[in-house]
Amino acid sequence: MQGRFHMYEGYPLWKVTFPVRIFHLLGVETLIVTNAAGGLNPDYKVGDIMVIRDHINLPGFAGQNPLVGPNDDRFGVRFPPMSDAYNQDLRKLAHKVASEMGCSGCVREGVYVALGGPTYETIAECRFLQRLGADAVGMSTVPEVIVARHCGMRVFGFSLITNKAVLDYESKEKANHAEVLEASRQSARTLEKLVSLMVQHIERNNNVA
Ligand code: HPA
Repeated sequence: MQGRFHMYEGYPLWKVTFPVRIFHLLGVETLIVTNAAGGLNPDYKVGDIMVIRDHINLPGFAGQNPLVGPNDDRFGVRFPPMSDAYNQDLRKLAHKVASEMGCSGCVREGVYVALGGPTYETIAECRFLQRLGADAVGMSTVPEVIVARHCGMRVFGFSLITNKAVLDYESKEKANHAEVLEASRQSARTLEKLVSLMVQHIERNNNVA
């Protein structure tokens, strides 16, 4: 996809995730999701790539889940598990490909927490999210992953760390969209290469199977 729909643009979650169901009906078996995110983990640097190990669906705590409403049994079960949302083989493959590319130094693995946006987080919110166990924060991805897992797709995701979350009241730093865009522009080539090498490996394995 070239871009995606976001909750903060005013779309209901069934619309945000509609393309994923179309992919499923077209026969797509693996979904690769990427996003820009703020680094909550103090070890993360701008430009790092975080392989998503797991997510926290914070809007889901307040009932904002794309699967709310009558279940469409043609896609999946009423109560789908999410404990294995991000495929372990693909996570391992990402680290292997990153080391082949000589960029394993900037590849991390962690937990992505999604918020509705469009405001960036307050300092208190960042501290709260860190304590929840999140390594990176963003405003997307989780609804698409939920719908993809519901219909049995394999999911893999990366977050590009475009800024560091502000956790200190003395700091003069502020999250801003220009810095997010600039960091994304600088890392776009690396991310593109990582994804295309992963796709080549996946294709090769599919052909073997
Ligand atoms: N917070 C939320 N979303 C984001 C951020 C952030 O710091 N950076 C990029 N997307």
